Amino acid sequence: MAETTPTPASTPADPAPSTPAPPPGAKPAAPRPAGGAGASPAGTTATPKPAAQKPAAKPAEAPPPPPQNVTRREFLNYVWGASMALMLAQTVGISVLFALPRFREGEFGGKIRVSTADFPALNASPTENNLGKFWMVNTEQGIQAIYKVCTHLGCLYFWDDLSRRFACPCHGSQFEYNGKWIAGPAPRDLDRFAFEVLDANDRVIAESLDGRPLPLPANAAAVRVDTGRKTLGESHF
Ligand code: FES
Repeated sequence: MAETTPTPASTPADPAPSTPAPPPGAKPAAPRPAGGAGASPAGTTATPKPAAQKPAAKPAEAPPPPPQNVTRREFLNYVWGASMALMLAQTVGISVLFALPRFREGEFGGKIRVSTADFPALNASPTENNLGKFWMVNTEQGIQAIYKVCTHLGCLYFWDDLSRRFACPCHGSQFEYNGKWIAGPAPRDLDRFAFEVLDANDRVIAESLDGRPLPLPANAAAVRVDTGRKTLGESHF
């Protein structure tokens, strides 16, 4: 009969591999926390490491306080003041413009200086000043500066030595030596300019503001005719 080796009914389970026992005398290892390296011990919540805090930014400097708002009353005061200043400037400017002569001396529209020698002798034929557009006459009543433009429609009239009168070629008006109307369609006498008489030192010694005849003083040296100041001849209607 063959000999059999009895087989145990059950094989005891292999024991789990265990940590090798530390050598005698070594310190027991500290228990490792579950979950691997760095894990919190079982039953505790992991606390995140706080991020490194940056230093607080330096607060910006506060801007300067805004100017006080202009009140409605102040604004209206400013507007009123500006309006007054503008009006004053306009008034002054206009006054200066009116005060200044519009024409310079020596040009038509301004004052024109002539010598007393330029005037004719008493009742002699008139002499003319083309720059000032006037005739110079000398009667018993005095000297005059008569505008050279006809009072009808503005033609230039001439002196007729034969008839000793002024005659207009356009429509036939005629005038005396002193500018009085004689005939024709002209509605009034000839116009005349104001003038002032000057002595040798250019001082005014006589003046005719309406251009009427004025006898020449003995010390008269010059006459300044104001071609910007015309007096209309007397109407005969
Ligand atoms: Fe001199 Fe008519 S413009 S008479």
